[in-house]
Amino acid sequence: MVIQIPRGTQDILPGQSELWQYIEMQARELCKRYQYKEIRTPIFEHTELFLRGVGDTTDIVQKEMYSFTDRGGRDITLRPEGTAAVVRSYVENKMFGWANQPVKLFYFGPMFRYERPQAGRFRQFVQFGVEALGSADPAIDAEVLALAMDFYKGMGLKSLKLVINSLGDKESRTNHREALVNHFKPRIGEFCEDCQSRLEKNPLRILDCKKDRDHELMKTAPSIIDYLNDDSRKYFEMVQKYLKALDIEFTVDPTLVRGLDYYNHTAFEIMSSAEGFGAITTLCGGGRYNGLVEEIGGPETPGIGFALSVERLIAALAAEKVDLGFDEGIDCYVVSLGDAAKDYSVKLLHDLRKAGFSAEKDYNDRKAKAQFKAADRLQARFVAILGDDELSKNKINVKNMKTGDQVEVDLQNFIEHFRKMQ
Ligand code: HAM
Repeated sequence: MVIQIPRGTQDILPGQSELWQYIEMQARELCKRYQYKEIRTPIFEHTELFLRGVGDTTDIVQKEMYSFTDRGGRDITLRPEGTAAVVRSYVENKMFGWANQPVKLFYFGPMFRYERPQAGRFRQFVQFGVEALGSADPAIDAEVLALAMDFYKGMGLKSLKLVINSLGDKESRTNHREALVNHFKPRIGEFCEDCQSRLEKNPLRILDCKKDRDHELMKTAPSIIDYLNDDSRKYFEMVQKYLKALDIEFTVDPTLVRGLDYYNHTAFEIMSSAEGFGAITTLCGGGRYNGLVEEIGGPETPGIGFALSVERLIAALAAEKVDLGFDEGIDCYVVSLGDAAKDYSVKLLHDLRKAGFSAEKDYNDRKAKAQFKAADRLQARFVAILGDDELSKNKINVKNMKTGDQVEVDLQNFIEHFRKMQ
C-alpha cells in the first residue's frame, strides 16, 4: 500500500513554495517596520503550559491537542498556538527586565490541532503571530491591529472586515459571568454535555459552542458590553479612538468571544468578505491577555497579540484572484551541442552561478530543440548556446529571449559580457 500524507496536512510543492516564501518575507519586512523582533520557541512544550495558558475548558485543550508521553515519562504537546509559549519564554528569559518595554515579538511557524479538516482548516497549519508584552496602553492595541491590517492590505486583499469587542477587566468579567450562569442555568439540560460542564467552570465558553449555536438562549444571552465597568469602557473607547485616528475601519460585535481563555479587554477577528471564500471566514484572531504572564509564573504584565494562518491567507488571495506577479524566470540557460561543448558547459554553468546568476543546463543528453524548450519552461531571460564549432573558435552565442537578439562573444570573457547585457 502506498503511504499517504496524514489527514489535514499538506505538501507545499515547488510552484507553491515561492508564494509561502514571499508571504514570510512580507511578514518579516512588516515586523521590521513596526519593530517586532522574531522569537523561535520549540514545536513542543509541556502539556501543562497549554492547560494553564489556553485554558482547560477550551475546545483546543479538551479535544484538539496532539499530546503524548515521551520516553522520559513527560507529558508533551505539539503547540496548538503560539501565545502560551511566547509568554513562557518571556517569563523564563526574564524579558520583563529588558530595558525596552513593551517587548514586541513575532513568530512564524507550524501549529497543530486535531480538528475536523475542511477548506481552511488543517491539522498542521502555519501561523504568523505577534505579541506585545509590557504595555497597557490602548495605542498598542491599535498598533497590533494596524500591523495585521497592513499585512493583508500589503498582500493585495481588499474584502476585509475587522470586528472588535471588549471582554472587559476582571471585575466586568466576574459580573458578566454571574449573569451568564443565571441566564443558562434554568435550561442547561437542553444544552450539550460540554456546555453543561462549562456552566460553572467557564460559562463564557458556552457562547462559543458549535453544537448549540442555534439555541434560542444564545441570542438572548447577556452581552459583555452591558457589564463593562468604567475603566473597561474607557479603555475600549480609547482603542476605538486610536483605530479611527489610524483610518482603520471596524465594527463592534458584542457577541465576539474567541475560543481561548486568556483574553480580556480588546478581542478581535479579521474576516474575509470575499465571495467564494468558503464557510470559515476568519483570517486572523487575537486580543489582549493581561494576566496570562502571572498565570505562567511571571510578574503582573499586560499583553496583546494576534495570529493568522498562511493557509487562510492563501485561500483569501485565491478567492480575490490577487495576482502577485512573481518573476520566476532564471538568468541564463546553457544549451550545448556536441560532446566537447557539453563538457565545457559544466564549467560555464558553474562560472555563471559563482558570478551570482541563476542558471541551469541539461543533464539528460537532450537534443537542441528539447534544451530550448526547457529554457522556455524555466523562463530563461538569456540562452547561452555553445556548439563544438564555437568552442573551437573560442566563441559562444548569447540570445536575449525577450528581444530575440543574438550576439557572439568571446568565450574567455563570457561572464563579463553577460554581466554587461543585463
Ligand atoms: P486562534 O483564533 O485560535 O488564536 O487562531 C488564530 C488564527 O489561526 C485563526 O484566525 C486562523 O487564521 C488560524 N487557524 C486556527 N486554527 C486553524 C486551522 N485548524 N487551520 C488553519 N488555520 C487555523 C490563536 O491562536 C491565538 N494564539 C492568537 C493570539 C495571539 N492571541 C493573542 N496573541
